[in-house]
Amino acid sequence: MTFDLIIHGGTVATASDTFRSDIGIRDGRIASLGLDLGTAARMIDATGRLVLPGGIDSHVHLAQPSGPGVTMADDFLTGTKSAMFGGNTTVMPFCLQQKGQSLRAALDNYHALAAGKCHTDISFHLIITDPTPAVLGQELPALIAAGYKSVKVFMTYEAMRLNDAEILATMDAARTGGAVVMVHAENEDVIRYLTDQHERAGHTAARGHATSRPVTAEREATHRAMSLADVVGVPVVIVHVSNGATIDEIARARHRGQPVTAETCPQYLMLTAQDLDREGWEGAKYVCSPPPRDHAEQEACWNGLRNGIFDLFSSDHCPFRFDDPEGKQRPGGATSFRHIPNGIPGIELRLPILFSEGVAKGRIDINRFVALTATNHAKTYGLYPRKGTIAIGSDADLAIWDPLLQRTVRHADLHDGCDYTPYEGLEVTGWPDTVILRGTVMVQDGNFDGEIGYGHYISR
Ligand code: URP
Ligand code: ZN
Ligand code: ZN
Ligand code: ZN
Repeated sequence: MTFDLIIHGGTVATASDTFRSDIGIRDGRIASLGLDLGTAARMIDATGRLVLPGGIDSHVHLAQPSGPGVTMADDFLTGTKSAMFGGNTTVMPFCLQQKGQSLRAALDNYHALAAGKCHTDISFHLIITDPTPAVLGQELPALIAAGYKSVKVFMTYEAMRLNDAEILATMDAARTGGAVVMVHAENEDVIRYLTDQHERAGHTAARGHATSRPVTAEREATHRAMSLADVVGVPVVIVHVSNGATIDEIARARHRGQPVTAETCPQYLMLTAQDLDREGWEGAKYVCSPPPRDHAEQEACWNGLRNGIFDLFSSDHCPFRFDDPEGKQRPGGATSFRHIPNGIPGIELRLPILFSEGVAKGRIDINRFVALTATNHAKTYGLYPRKGTIAIGSDADLAIWDPLLQRTVRHADLHDGCDYTPYEGLEVTGWPDTVILRGTVMVQDGNFDGEIGYGHYISR
């Protein structure tokens, strides 16, 4: 057998096994696994290193607007570059339908924004904000049939939220077409009531973001989202879960046999509401929804990662510049936490953080790491087994990790378009230094060695 590329000497880990193997790659796919595969045009020595499936980040916001004059700090170019340097080979950004817009027009826009710019493969989820009869009756069924097999709905955010009737109708259309429904579950009326109360009391600092979005608002909405999905009979993904009470609701639904998939993110392991208390508007750098909680809730999330409640560990990368020159999205320019755009960057650090805090510190093993960061994303969203594993016939999407490399996180070393990282100064052990997309070396020994635009759209 002849190969285009052989990776030799490394230890391969999948969601189920860890084994010594070389990998022979031909025509962008894994063609052989075994020892002594011979020589190829290109050889990569992975001695002493781990060879893992490239990460799949299935919860990423790129180039999305967030209210008037505010856009995310990453477009498809910088966002996928940052993802790639963090060991990812596929990301799943959202295509946001604006109110009054057709889904087709929204998709055309996001495909145009992504064309020729991606460093990783991508595949879109559809955010439905305007579920008109035409959208649910004609457009969505046609798009699901065309391979857009995941839909996200919001229960919060004034400009995007759906009421229960609209969620039911959207879930019904998704079930009929065979799509999965992702839900951002927080009770909007609770949040509005508490936000008004905070402002009347003059409590406008960033910390108010956390106290106006309590665990109860997330727990109740999660219970309601799962109940609506149960009535319709559609599989549901509860995204960015932040706390133990919500985890308990999910556990009960799963115990009853309901198909519920749950996701958590680095911010719920690493940050707390106290971070929002930082001097001046520095606290705005930690504003995301749901908000980071406390150390006990961090432990509850670790438990959920260990015990299988969480299948997905995603970044929810949603970057806004802290010091934007036009002043439009500068959190420091906000007069109340109500106006701070929600979301924080994290696409490049998702894998190093879970590796360091999880695998290196003995909280999870390497196989669970692979499941949580790649395999389960591919299975949940219809990319498996083409993506998310190391097997003959799968795309040769690989990340080679130095499990012992120690680094101090500095925003200056990252590749995104934001101007800070919430994890500045964090010490991590383990880093992906070589990244291969469909057999093409994109990053070798920490240096970009690929081709801009090599990433392409994956239909499911
Ligand atoms: O604060 C967050 N999470 N912003 C991103 C949008 C979302 O809610 O997923
Ligand atoms: Zn969300
Ligand atoms: Zn999100
Ligand atoms: Zn950044």
